[in-house]
Amino acid sequence: MCGIMGYVGPRAVAPLVLNGLQQLEYRGYDSAGMAVIGADGELHIRRAEGKLVNLRTVVEHSPVVGCVGVGHTRWATHGPPSERNAHPHISPDQEFAVVQNGIVENFAELRTRLRELGYAFASDTDTETIVHLLHYHYHNGSDADLEGAVRATLAELRGPSAVVVVSRAHPGQLIAARVGNAGGVAIGLGAGESMVASDLPAIVEHVREVVYLESGEFAVLTAAGVEFGNLAGDRYAKQPVTVDWSPEAVERGPYDHFMQKEIYEQAQSLTDTLRGRLDLAGATVRLEKLGLDRSQAAKLERVVITACGTSYYAGLLGKHYIERLARIPVEVDYAGEFRYRDPVLSPNTLVIAITQSGETADTLAAIEEAQRQDAHTLAIVNVVNSQAARLCAGVVPMQAGPEIGVASTKAFTSSLTCLLMVAVALGELRATLDDAQRTALVAEMGRLPGLAGGLLEEARKSGRYAQLAQTYARYHNFLYIGRGLHYAIAREGALKLKEISYIHAEGYPAGEMKHGPIALIEPNMPTVALCVQDRVYDKMLSQVQQVKARNGLVLAVGHADDALLAEMVDALLPVPRCNEFIMPILAVIPLQIFAYEMALQRGADVDQPRNLAKSVTVE
Ligand code: M6R
Repeated sequence: MCGIMGYVGPRAVAPLVLNGLQQLEYRGYDSAGMAVIGADGELHIRRAEGKLVNLRTVVEHSPVVGCVGVGHTRWATHGPPSERNAHPHISPDQEFAVVQNGIVENFAELRTRLRELGYAFASDTDTETIVHLLHYHYHNGSDADLEGAVRATLAELRGPSAVVVVSRAHPGQLIAARVGNAGGVAIGLGAGESMVASDLPAIVEHVREVVYLESGEFAVLTAAGVEFGNLAGDRYAKQPVTVDWSPEAVERGPYDHFMQKEIYEQAQSLTDTLRGRLDLAGATVRLEKLGLDRSQAAKLERVVITACGTSYYAGLLGKHYIERLARIPVEVDYAGEFRYRDPVLSPNTLVIAITQSGETADTLAAIEEAQRQDAHTLAIVNVVNSQAARLCAGVVPMQAGPEIGVASTKAFTSSLTCLLMVAVALGELRATLDDAQRTALVAEMGRLPGLAGGLLEEARKSGRYAQLAQTYARYHNFLYIGRGLHYAIAREGALKLKEISYIHAEGYPAGEMKHGPIALIEPNMPTVALCVQDRVYDKMLSQVQQVKARNGLVLAVGHADDALLAEMVDALLPVPRCNEFIMPILAVIPLQIFAYEMALQRGADVDQPRNLAKSVTVE
């Protein structure tokens, strides 16, 4: 949550920080602020409640000139969104400013102690304890030792924190540090300039060489370069990685919203996900770093998939893929539950963590638990070099390109595609997939991007979803039902609708309707049913009949030439016919477009839905 962007170098820092924060606003948009060391050597603070545009206005009216500074966009944890709770937080004598991403779990006891030491608090935040502690250690430690004071301060914090510190006593530098799973801290190495950001979109326009801080590390950034060390006080060199994202990839381009862009670019993102991995001639998939050899795969007794939100729903479908193709029992667990459940794992368990951002706090903790119990770990992750990718023995990058919209879309279809590839790879290693099945599946995977492109083109040209939204945006509750491979799609479709249009929606296994939810059916409760012609098609049709018999409205995802279904339902959301394992990857796309158009129709903020942030780096 929260986005940080800091800069040291020859350029004017305020516009750089504002533009960097703009790219990080998906991480939080409750308030924003910046601290800049001005030409007068003083720290200048600007802050505003609400979205970044408000901070821009403040800076326009009251410009700050300087070449060293740091900014922050907040997702509130402690204290409501307001100017006084916006970061940076400053020491009483305006000597230090601190921005933080994370939580100070022991902030109450620290605040009591600091108050006893004479510090007055100007905000309700946990972060303010950090700046006062820093001030205390700086003035009660070795002379003018900012680094030492940062180390002493972080040693007192409980909980994950990524911080950046700026001080007027050390005007040519920023100190960035990270403890625990506090989200990314990417240090950009430029020519005569250095920068720090919570995520690459903020700095990809300026640098290619990036170093990520691990927990317990800090970096001292100056225009001349960056020095790295750990909180024990050791100094060492760190090897940079080269970033291959283009700056355009993080721009909205001709689209109105990032979510719209990310939905409509799925033919491309799926092409990228499959690139270099499908061997059509050999009828196989090639995953560079599965992290398991043939003998380890053969010994697997169980797979546990763990994730949050949309990634969890991808896991629900992954269970079907792996059980059916690799014949291993699979459990799917919310990462936030798994980590505290004292799960039973063994060296013959494979734990697959799915995470777009690679920095979701619960998912990272779940990976650590798996490693503590010596299970194999595999990350399916979109942000390359993210913490999840660095932690796990195996990594399958989604290769979907940056996803900025808070509502995940293209990362979902890419993670499903990765799960299918993992299932095929495991099936091959374990000899559970016959040649004919594998050949057909691999060939069909090659058709996936084209099928998605055709579906999206038809959706764009027909204008069907905008029209549907005009009719359906007035309803307050929706049921989404699916069976088998499409149960996960029902769950994801419902999540998309609720998170961006604030309409209550629940995803159910269709077979459960008679056990309770059917009581909800009446003319004001539309049902979205996944009715493609697969092995449970007849069962789904019966379910639709039962809803219609109770005067319920039904929107069905089905095939355009399915006359029987078309006649039965109130609206048909068409998907092409294809292999049953590919079908759900396509079936979610109409539900993404439907949710997008519904949100537009209701005037909701599609890319920045209320109360949400894209990367959930705190518990
Ligand atoms: O980055 P992750 O995949 O770990 O994120 C998990 C969830 O926070 C995320 O999928 C969330 O549910 C999205 N808002 C869904 O659109």
